Amino acid sequence: MTTIEFKGLRKAYKDVTAVEHLDATAQPGRITGFLGPNGAGKSTALRCLLGLATPTSGEALIGGKTYSQLTDPLKQVGAVLDSSGFNGSLTANQNMKIICTAAGISHDRIQPLLELVELGEVGSKRTKGFSLGMRQRLSLAVALLGDPQILVLDEPANGLDPIGIAWLRKFLRDLADAGKTILVSSHQLAELEHTVDDVIILNHGKLIAAGALAEIKQGHTSLEEAFLALVTAPAATSSKGDAK
Ligand SMILES: Nc1ncnc2c1ncn2[C@@H]1O[C@H](COP(=O)(O)OP(=O)(O)O)[C@@H](O)[C@H]1O
Ligand SMILES: [Mg+2]
Repeated sequence: MTTIEFKGLRKAYKDVTAVEHLDATAQPGRITGFLGPNGAGKSTALRCLLGLATPTSGEALIGGKTYSQLTDPLKQVGAVLDSSGFNGSLTANQNMKIICTAAGISHDRIQPLLELVELGEVGSKRTKGFSLGMRQRLSLAVALLGDPQILVLDEPANGLDPIGIAWLRKFLRDLADAGKTILVSSHQLAELEHTVDDVIILNHGKLIAAGALAEIKQGHTSLEEAFLALVTAPAATSSKGDAK
């Protein structure tokens, strides 16, 4: 019901096929890492999922529906694509109020969410003074405003220091434990290795592996090593696990 599914998703631009026939899923109660080097097609696939890009063919579905078919998208899917979308001359609170008003969400949710992301004391500060890490956390708070079942995060660890990354890890784990479906992208395999339950790994737009982290890592000391083995193996296009 609240599964994310890529079904034969393909997205081609004029000169480049960003995503080629992607079949993969992300399940409720689990953190799924959407991994691959820069240019692998992660953001493009996530943009298709969130209705920000139109698939050339295939589908990206949320609970069996495309984003545009969702009746109340902001209450069904929380997304963080980049954290530069705030109006710097407004406070964190004011930025959140605008979104609440647009989406018909009670303003009462703002302060508890600011506290959840540890910005409870800076809600009345203008966001232009926020560090990248603070903006990332504010983006997470915004994504959770509608209490969505599904969370889609594109490179949320970018700009976070080790403490911030540890914080993000626990934050996502608590949400997954509460039953949410979490799809989180990263180009840094080592960083997400300790955060995710399942992985979907892309390289040059193609799926190279999908399944439980332990299964993909089997026989390797790290996910990075498993990735390198997969991209250099002759059968590098085969997939494991639940990639149907
Ligand atoms: N709007 C676009 N127009 C043309 N090419 C694009 C566009 N968006 C992405 N691409 C290309 O698609 C490929 C995948 O990019 P992207 O999805 O951003 O990868 P990732 O997020 O994994 O780094 C890259 O070669 C990129 O240059
Ligand atoms: Mg990207």
